[in-house]
Amino acid sequence: MTNILCIGAGYVGGSTMPIVASHCPQHRFVIVDINAARIAAWQSDKLPIYEPGLDEIVRQTRGKNLFFSTDVDKHIAEADIIFVSVNTPTKMFGQGAGKAADLQYWEKTARQILENSTTSKIVVEKSTLPVRTGEAMERILNSNGTGLHFDVLSNPEFLAEGTAVRDMENPDRILIGGRETESGQKAVETLVELYANWVPREKIVTTNLWSSELSKLVANAFLAQRISSINSISALCEKTEADVNEVAHAIGLDNRIGKYFLRSGVGFGGSCFKKDILHLVYLCEHYGLPEVAAYWEQVVTMNEYQEMRFVSKMVASMFNTIAGKRIAVFGAAFKANTNDTRESPALEVCRALLEEHAEIIITDPHAMENARYDLGELAKRITFEPDPYVAANGAHAIAVVTEWSQFAQLDYEKIHASMVKPAFLFDGRNLLDHRKLYEVGFNVYPIGRPALTHLLSQ
Ligand code: UDX
Ligand code: UDX
Repeated sequence: MTNILCIGAGYVGGSTMPIVASHCPQHRFVIVDINAARIAAWQSDKLPIYEPGLDEIVRQTRGKNLFFSTDVDKHIAEADIIFVSVNTPTKMFGQGAGKAADLQYWEKTARQILENSTTSKIVVEKSTLPVRTGEAMERILNSNGTGLHFDVLSNPEFLAEGTAVRDMENPDRILIGGRETESGQKAVETLVELYANWVPREKIVTTNLWSSELSKLVANAFLAQRISSINSISALCEKTEADVNEVAHAIGLDNRIGKYFLRSGVGFGGSCFKKDILHLVYLCEHYGLPEVAAYWEQVVTMNEYQEMRFVSKMVASMFNTIAGKRIAVFGAAFKANTNDTRESPALEVCRALLEEHAEIIITDPHAMENARYDLGELAKRITFEPDPYVAANGAHAIAVVTEWSQFAQLDYEKIHASMVKPAFLFDGRNLLDHRKLYEVGFNVYPIGRPALTHLLSQ
C-alpha cells in the first residue's frame, strides 16, 4: 500500500483524487485543505463542487480508501506521494502584477512538506505552474541537510469542468514530467504505475520536467486561441451575413483543423484560460520574447472584446439605452454543467449592464451561490431568481450567457407573453432555435449570425 496525499481540495484536487482512489483500492488516499468548511462539505452529502458523476464516486470511496482532513502536517508525515493542487492565482501586486503566477501558496506548501517530513517523498505538481517552478521546488525541498530526498514531478491536469469524471476515466493522455536522473526516472515510473491501473500505457506520456510544465500552459493557450479565433470571425460574420456556425462546420471538416472547440459565443471563462495565458505572456516577457508575448496576449484581448461587443450590441439594439430596463440574464456559470463562476463571461456581462444602469435579474440552475459571492458588492444590485420564467416575467430582454440545456427546453411562447414588448433575446451561446423564437415574436440577436428582428428600422 502507498500513502497518497493531495494538498488542496478545490476543483482540481477534489475531482481528480476520488477517481484515482476508485481505480486504486490497494492504496490509501487523503485529501487535505486549510479550508475547514470545504473539507466538511467534502465529508457531507452536499459536495462543495457540482460535477456530474462525482457524488457517486466520492460515496463509493469515502471512508474506504479515501479520506478528507484539515490536518495537513500529520498527513504530510505519513505520505509517500504528495500531489499539490493548491491555487496559483494571478499575482496582483509587485513585479508581474496582473500577469505572473502568484506562487506564495505553492512555496508555503513546499516548506510545510519539508518541515513535516521524516521520510523521502515524491512531490507532484498538479497545479498549473510556470515552467521551471519545479527547479525552485527541488531547491526548497532538498535544502534539508537531513538526508531526505524529494523527487519533484509535473503531472498537469487536463480535465474540463462539467466533464471531469469522463475526462479522468478516459483521458486523451496523462502527462508526467520528471528529471532525467536515476531517481527522477524511478519517481516517474512510480506515477506511471499508479495511472496504469486504469489508463492504457500508450496514453501515458513521459517528458522532462520543463516540457510537462510548459505543455499545460500551451494546451490551454491553444484551446483559448481557437475560441478567440472563431469569435473574431463571428464579428466579421455579423457584418457580412455569413453564419459563424456554418463557417465553423465548414472549416472543422478539414482534419487538420478539426471540429472541436470552434463554438463561437460570448467569450471563454473559467479559472484557467485567462490566467494561464497571462502566465505564458509573462514568461515570454521575462525571457526577452516580446513578440511572442504580444501574440498570445491578443487571445485575451479578443476575449474581452467579444464580451463587450455582446453588451454593446444589446445597448445598440434596444434603442441605445437600457437604463432602468429589466434584463433577465440566463446563466451565471462560465459554462454548462458546473457551479463555477470564476472569470465567467456572464458576470462580466452583468457588470457592464449595471454600468448602463440596467435592472438585472439572473438565473442559473447551479451557480447562483458562487455568482453572488464572486460579484461581491455588486450582488446587492442584482436579483437572483432560480425560476427562469419568473426571471423573464416583465423583462425587456433575455441574455443567454451560459449554454445550460435547461434553457433550451423552456416554453418561450409563455416567456414571450410575460415580457415587455418589443421583447429582445440575445443568445450569447447560439443555444436556442432562433427561427422559432423569431416566429414566437422575439427580436433575436445570435452571435455571428444575422439578427432576426421584427423592428422596422432593421
Ligand atoms: C487551482 C488552480 O487554479 C489551478 O491553476 C491549478 O491547476 C490547480 O489549483 P482549483 O482546484 O480549481 O485550481 O483551485 P481552488 O478550487 O481554488 O482550490 C485550491 C484549494 O487549495 C483551495 O480549497 C484552498 O483552500 C487550498 N489551499 C490553498 C490549501 O489547502 N493550502 C494553501 O496553502 C492554499
Ligand atoms: C479548460 C481545459 O479544457 C482543460 O483541459 C484544463 O484542464 C482547464 O481549462 P475548463 O475551463 O473547465 O477546462 O472548460 P472548457 O470546456 O475548456 O471551457 C472553457 C471556456 O471556453 C468556457 O467558458 C466555454 O464556454 C468556452 N468555450 C469552449 C467556448 O466558448 N467555445 C468552445 O468551442 C469551447
